[in-house]
Amino acid sequence: MSSRPLSIIVGVTGGIAAYKAIHVVRLLTLQGHEVTVVPTRAALEFVGRPTFEAVSHRPVRVDLFDNVDRVQHVSLGKAADLVVVVPATANTIAKIAAGIADNLLTTTLLTATAPIVIAPAMHTEMWRNAATQHNVSTLRSRGITIIEPDDGQLTGDDSGPGRLPEPERIVSEALALIPGSESRDLDGRRILVTAGGTHEALDPVRYIGNNSSGKQGIAFAVAAAARGAHVTLVAANVDGPVPGGVEIVSVVTAEELANEVLTRSRGCDAVVMAAAVADYRPVEKSARKLKKDVIGDGLTVKLVKNRDVLASLVLEKSVAGPIIGFAAETADGDELLALGREKMARKKCDFLVINAVGDSIGFGEQTNSVVVIDRAGEVVAEAAGTKRDVADRVLDLIV
Ligand code: CTP
Repeated sequence: MSSRPLSIIVGVTGGIAAYKAIHVVRLLTLQGHEVTVVPTRAALEFVGRPTFEAVSHRPVRVDLFDNVDRVQHVSLGKAADLVVVVPATANTIAKIAAGIADNLLTTTLLTATAPIVIAPAMHTEMWRNAATQHNVSTLRSRGITIIEPDDGQLTGDDSGPGRLPEPERIVSEALALIPGSESRDLDGRRILVTAGGTHEALDPVRYIGNNSSGKQGIAFAVAAAARGAHVTLVAANVDGPVPGGVEIVSVVTAEELANEVLTRSRGCDAVVMAAAVADYRPVEKSARKLKKDVIGDGLTVKLVKNRDVLASLVLEKSVAGPIIGFAAETADGDELLALGREKMARKKCDFLVINAVGDSIGFGEQTNSVVVIDRAGEVVAEAAGTKRDVADRVLDLIV
């Protein structure tokens, strides 16, 4: 841990998502930050004070009249480097917008000079209500960061926008406001990442390739390096700039990628196989450009199977930590998961990151949406957002 430890206030208000605040506090304390939890009375209807005390390792106070001698609301607010309200109900958002100070949390918010991050969670109707939306834009205009709620399953049978985002996303968006506070939880670790798509040559100017842009693999390399890892990026024909601070090994073909990965991954702490590796290559590469007048109306190319790098890595057991595979499939929902599970049964890596691809999703985009399964085929994470968000979520699993 070499990141700067921060003094963070986590305000918790009375919504069913209050239980997710426990994980937010846990993630922040695991990263070495000092967390003071300030729940409202209503929050304690959902999660008890001892739970917050246990995860934050600090006493939890709710009332303005606890520790009056220390003028707690002022001392807490002034000392904080960051304030995160998770979950924030429509009621508390309205109070903050109006400057109401009727409990320790709302009073502390009025004295805080540090960045404030608010993660709303409520039913869709309440979120879309004109009053709530007006209050949210008032807070934004004052420089407060509002984390957009997810669209998904809510309490009961309802679903729609209003769901609290995953704790990992809240933590990473909140810490991103404080330069130098990012987690260095991969400090000193060696991680090999593959990115891009291989090209299998037919002749000196033509190849069989695929649509992988390399963006997701590059996002993994950047995220792992930011978290302190020494990263080797085996890059196959990637689009766009490759980051600094990362060792880059450029390859073109699946065979070159296999050779580099199998030698360079020895002793690494993790391998992330984000590259789209060609399953087959032409048996022969013509030394000269193929000519139509010689070939005629039809061209048959004989292909031979390439080595499965991921499966070889798993068999060799020369990587010290987790091996992460990817499954890009033209399916969705249950079928997508079933195809991922089949792939996991064949590849037997530690985690498989499954995503849907098609004409307008996945490849080349700035965002991604994935499901991660473990070796038993259980879903261990779901992540959506920028490719960097997805990378960070998977790196959390590696950690
Ligand atoms: N992979 C690999 N070596 C190959 C082919 C794929 O290491 N020769 C890796 C990819 O980097 C990815 C995972 O295996 O992490 C899944 O790749 P994919 O091509 O989707 O799987 P396949 O087993 O080839 O299945 P299919 O093409 O039939 O879907």
